Amino acid sequence: MVHRPIQQRTPLFAYCLRNVTEAAALAAYDWVGRGDKNAADGAAVEAMRKELNALPIEGTVIIGEGAKDEAPELYCGEAIGLSRNRAKFDIAVDPVEGTSYTAKGIANALSVIALAPRGTMFDPGPSYYMEKIAVPKEAKGLIDPEAPTADKLKVLARALGKPVRELTVFLLEKPRHEKMIEEIYAAGARCALYPAGDVMGGLLAAFPDSGIDMLLGTGGTPEGILTACALRAIGADFMGRFDPQSETERKVIAEFGLGTEEWLMMDDLVSSDQVFFCATGVTDGILVDGVTVEGDFARTQTLMISGPYGERQVLTSYHMVEAD
Ligand code: FBP
Repeated sequence: MVHRPIQQRTPLFAYCLRNVTEAAALAAYDWVGRGDKNAADGAAVEAMRKELNALPIEGTVIIGEGAKDEAPELYCGEAIGLSRNRAKFDIAVDPVEGTSYTAKGIANALSVIALAPRGTMFDPGPSYYMEKIAVPKEAKGLIDPEAPTADKLKVLARALGKPVRELTVFLLEKPRHEKMIEEIYAAGARCALYPAGDVMGGLLAAFPDSGIDMLLGTGGTPEGILTACALRAIGADFMGRFDPQSETERKVIAEFGLGTEEWLMMDDLVSSDQVFFCATGVTDGILVDGVTVEGDFARTQTLMISGPYGERQVLTSYHMVEAD
């Protein structure tokens, strides 16, 4: 085993970036278990924006909180960052991924960000829903997104060197996935069905030994781009196809110029390996611990992933806080 030279290991910038999701998670923590997902999201957005504007970058929000008129902060297209004429980045944020988990005070809510060099992140405009496929690096380039579910599973099983019956597929538990879930059961594989949080599902599919081998099904488009960024850095694979869930969305995305037939591959979604990704736990979860407060200190845990070598850390931090 050869350890990579220091120049190829996690750039220091990842340590700056984690301030952004940690601030958002700390702000959302005040709203954990209080039944108000909009308040949790609003607090996280505000905290995230403040930290983003302290970063030494020139950034543009590609995936934000919606259009400028709907979202006064972190709207798509907003210019962010401390410096002009510095490194230029596209930015994708989800201040709280799992607002319902946060409001209910249950596991697996995260605050998430991804950065990629300017012009390398796909702008999905008004698209809200995307069908997604995520697999680990062993299956990179092998999955035909148009193939029947059973065939996808066979290819993945071969790539991972295990039988189909030992594969577990992460899906959101939604009526729209009933047929696909039946196909997975019929093929002999397992399903892990979660009510929300498919960024976590994509990451678990990419990580070895997570117990999840694949992400399938339709979820949020912004979450899809964020997942693609993280998986690009790790060297795993992600594909997406716009999958509007209402006639209005279908019309709006057609007007924006997006088709619903074509699958976008990793290179279409994020075309650079120089990606940074951070996810901080709001509530305790499978990937990281959530925020806890003990005396004068709040504890956070952040998963940091940096391309192009896919190094990742889970960083535990203690932040001095003042009582209200
Ligand atoms: P929250 O609204 O609870 O934050 O849910 C986030 C999420 O589950 C994403 O992970 C997923 O991509 C998307 O919502 C799916 O949306 P929907 O629940 O409308 O199908």
